[in-house]
Amino acid sequence: MQKGEDIVLTIEGLSGEGKAVARKDGMVYFVENAVPGDVVQARVWKTKKNFAEARAMAILEPSPSRVEPRCMHFGACGGCKWQNLAYDAQLTHKKKLVVDAFARIGGFADPPVGDPIGCAEPYFYRNKMEFTFANQRWLTNEEMLRKEEILPEVALGLHVPKRYDKVVDIEECHLQSELSNGILRTVREVSKVWGLTVYSTETHEGYLRHLVIREAKHTGEVMVNLVTSTDLPEIMQNLTTLLVQHVPAITTVVNNITARKSMVAVGESEKVYFGPGFIQEKLGDFTFHISAGSFFQTNTLQAERLYDVVKKFADLKGKEVLYDLYSGTGTIALYLAREAERVVGIESVESSIRDAERNAERNRVINCYFLQGDLKDRLTTERSWLEEHPKPDVVVTDPPRNGMHQKVVEQIVRLRPAKIVYVSCNPSTQARDAKLLAEAGYILQMIQPVDMFPHTDHIETVALFTLPA
Ligand SMILES: C[S@@+](CC[C@H](N)C(=O)[O-])C[C@H]1O[C@@H](n2cnc3c(N)ncnc32)[C@H](O)[C@@H]1O
Repeated sequence: MQKGEDIVLTIEGLSGEGKAVARKDGMVYFVENAVPGDVVQARVWKTKKNFAEARAMAILEPSPSRVEPRCMHFGACGGCKWQNLAYDAQLTHKKKLVVDAFARIGGFADPPVGDPIGCAEPYFYRNKMEFTFANQRWLTNEEMLRKEEILPEVALGLHVPKRYDKVVDIEECHLQSELSNGILRTVREVSKVWGLTVYSTETHEGYLRHLVIREAKHTGEVMVNLVTSTDLPEIMQNLTTLLVQHVPAITTVVNNITARKSMVAVGESEKVYFGPGFIQEKLGDFTFHISAGSFFQTNTLQAERLYDVVKKFADLKGKEVLYDLYSGTGTIALYLAREAERVVGIESVESSIRDAERNAERNRVINCYFLQGDLKDRLTTERSWLEEHPKPDVVVTDPPRNGMHQKVVEQIVRLRPAKIVYVSCNPSTQARDAKLLAEAGYILQMIQPVDMFPHTDHIETVALFTLPA
């Protein structure tokens, strides 16, 4: 096939990156705008020796799993790739992604993967959305051809897939609530009317960078966090007054200020303009304090399902020492603390450690100890804390997407806990680390996927490893 040629393809499945895959005449085709089961007429736009990239131009026979996407931004926005795929089919493919990762990367012949625990409500499930400001919104091809289009000066929304410099101006998002959509629209409108400038990733000038909205699902508390490049207190105060009048459900407004060039929505400094500067959320019987910079699972209802799986796998009897590695705001530590003798949480972000300590105090949990630091250092060079705490019977580890540093895996293995419960949002890095644990003698007993992120190709998994009896 040549670039620009059309071909009829039957979509067989989804790749590890969530792309629709078809095979024909020894070639693998990655096809945009298609779902498994579709027969499409696709136009090839990139060819390599064994594979090609194509875009579906016409759906010749729709898949029984194809559904109408709800969102007006579907396709342009990088938020939900799979809104056109029925939810049960999404779960089937997510399970396959996990099985493939453990087989291909982990080297497990027949990985013991359970059926994913799906979301009862696959829309409006997020308790946090992070929007980015841009000077110019992303235009569709059709809009670019319509020359009369007037560009807004302030765009606010989500990234175009794989383009961190391009932003789709979001009117509505089906992942957070309508309240959050209202805040988004108000902030954009006010920014335009007041002529506020937008930070440019090219010139590094301009004021507005990100808008982060956190909305606790159980308590209803709402945080608005405006991330800016400089400290302009008068503007922030006026914006806060207007926002709180307009959306009375807002319980706190904070301003994170960062001059860093990298586009992360965390500031070097933070100022509170309204309310306490944090929100509270409940998981099970526990209430958690969440600051702007702290990690907290973004799907509250599924976080409870996830932690129930962790609890089941840990199967504590009350006498164990538990280490909760990458502990965030201490959620897993506290969730399991009643069943353990002692829990030690380790986490690198200072505000998360402070939140974890407050959370323990507020929930009257007295057997949890939290240590700040990079796990790699805490387990290698900065290990004096190990003299104060007994070795673990059970380790729960929940690293970020890039998984555990090899040294962390090696040190966990040296501590020789009877059980390791490994929570992950990336099956590829989890499978890589699982291979190391298996080589060190641990047996992979079970992998339970929990769908925290419907309509995306992301899946959370909990894997249980034990030592041979
Ligand atoms: C996926 S979150 C898990 C948090 C927590 N277990 C939960 O369920 O809310 C990963 C956490 O690891 C922390 N982290 C990332 N890299 C780290 C490192 N090298 N050492 C210690 N903590 C780290 C992050 O700040 C984040 O809080």
